[in-house]
Amino acid sequence: MSGVFDAPMSTAVAKSDFAREILDVYTLITWLTAGIFVVVATVLLYVIVRHRDRGDDALPPQVRGHTALEISWTVAPAILLLVIAIPTINVIFRTQSPARLGDGLAVTVRAYQWWWEFRYPSLEIVTANELHVPVGQQVTLRLEGPDVIHSFWVPQLGGKRDVVPGRLNVLTFTPDTPGEYLGQCAEFCGLSHANMRMLVVVHPAAQWPAWIASQRAAASASQADGAALFARNACVGCHTVRGVSAGLVGPDLTHFGSRRTLAAGLLPSTLENVAAFVENPPAVKPGVKMPPLGLTAEQARAVATYLLSLK
Ligand code: CUA
Repeated sequence: MSGVFDAPMSTAVAKSDFAREILDVYTLITWLTAGIFVVVATVLLYVIVRHRDRGDDALPPQVRGHTALEISWTVAPAILLLVIAIPTINVIFRTQSPARLGDGLAVTVRAYQWWWEFRYPSLEIVTANELHVPVGQQVTLRLEGPDVIHSFWVPQLGGKRDVVPGRLNVLTFTPDTPGEYLGQCAEFCGLSHANMRMLVVVHPAAQWPAWIASQRAAASASQADGAALFARNACVGCHTVRGVSAGLVGPDLTHFGSRRTLAAGLLPSTLENVAAFVENPPAVKPGVKMPPLGLTAEQARAVATYLLSLK
């Protein structure tokens, strides 16, 4: 199923093993229920036509208790439920298995109000709101707090899984098609829940080492004015720019300029958008934890230019 179903948040297009397993169950249930609809609608139509009021006030034969019918309409749904339950439970157990924890590319997912952090412990890379993975390789996400409950959901790559403080949840999948996939927090988590989006970029195998190298490299910025403003203001208390600051409250901005969107997928990362956000964050993203820092429009633009230069 693709074509008309191929929307960014569509669950009817599978681009990973996990998503395909869910879609298979979904397809099975859809066809079964379609079949039930056809049978019920046919019988209903037959009864309506056959026993319509012909103006003779005659009652059709009245049946009370029909053992064969009662057994069949008990057994048939039981069999249908069994046919649905077996593959469903199978997929639940396969995709929840903690045995997969040690396999594949490990990424720690931390959900905050209202943004995502992705840590690659083995690669010493930290990104925000953009999860990058190579095609054809298993990805093992460790979903950790430390905030209120959020839910990680990238429909074309797999099902939802909650991110719960104090609990470790695991989600594994193997993406099979390079591309960009939209995700969204799927658990109401406060004012900007709807603005807690993310992008998963699945790289072709040949491009994966280049992405790792670019993210491991030190940030190279040449925007002196903006850099000085960033370093002088409260920015550094919350944000990490490797080599400049080590704040842990907000997203790591070391390679901010390499990201496609701003404020957890809210807006495209253009100079205008970044400058507007830096100048007055709550005006752009309701409830955002970053307060206005009292920068002038000109200063905000300088900081935005600096951040966008962090490729
Ligand atoms: Cu995070 Cu909703």
